[in-house]
Amino acid sequence: MFFNKKSPVVSTELDLERIPKHVAIIMDGNGRWAKAKGLPRVAGHQQGMEGVKKITVAASDLGVKVLTLYAFSTENWKRPASEVGFLMKLPTRFFDTFVPELIQNNVKVQVMGYIDQLPTETQKAVQQAIDQTKNNTGMVLNFALNYGGRAEIITGVQNLARKVQTGSLSPDQIDEEQISNALMTAPLAPYQDPELLIRTSGENRISNFLLWQLAYSEMVFLDQHWPDLDADGFKQAISIYQGRDRRFGGIKEDKK
Ligand code: FPP
Repeated sequence: MFFNKKSPVVSTELDLERIPKHVAIIMDGNGRWAKAKGLPRVAGHQQGMEGVKKITVAASDLGVKVLTLYAFSTENWKRPASEVGFLMKLPTRFFDTFVPELIQNNVKVQVMGYIDQLPTETQKAVQQAIDQTKNNTGMVLNFALNYGGRAEIITGVQNLARKVQTGSLSPDQIDEEQISNALMTAPLAPYQDPELLIRTSGENRISNFLLWQLAYSEMVFLDQHWPDLDADGFKQAISIYQGRDRRFGGIKEDKK
């Protein structure tokens, strides 16, 4: 089955049977977007929030099961206090205006990260959105907030070590499944690992995002800044993914 969206700028044909089930995005370039327009960095984050709305609806419409967005990393605390303060208020602004549309689109909100270290107001906004959308059965919109891949692995390994210490797990039982289940993506089962990672704004690195889960993901790096990415750009990234040849370390069937 093919999807052909006619647009004066881009025409993207997608195979709707091969939409990645889990798409993760590093939403980069808010600051550069703002600078290029002579605006303060926070204006870029504000516009970036509008981008989250657009891409959430686009992903849900295409049948993506999980959309994970890197909204705040464990390293982002190093930014100026005023910028961190603005970023911490974004979830409140986002959910205040967007929860009705999330419900309309049957989207369920989940959050992963060290949430207890966020300001109380941010925690409340996030928890409220989780509660308000908990009965939705469509796409999961999973925000990585105060998330870091190495910290996540450390926490997961510590939890496994505690089980070994109390005797409920033997070291030999630790396998890929045990580790996957010890990570913050465990509640996304059976879609813990993204098939596709998108990063905007021309940087080709993963910046401590989903280190374990990205082992076999296709990576698509786009030049646009995050606030400029629209539904067509998102579809183009999926089209690039669909053009890739995923072998998971094996060989192509016809080369056997
Ligand atoms: C990276 O761009 C972006 C961030 C650190 C923040 C991302 C946040 C949003 C897109 C809004 C999130 C919305 C919700 C609802 C939580 P950058 O600031 O590093 O850009 P630069 O590299 O150009 O400076």
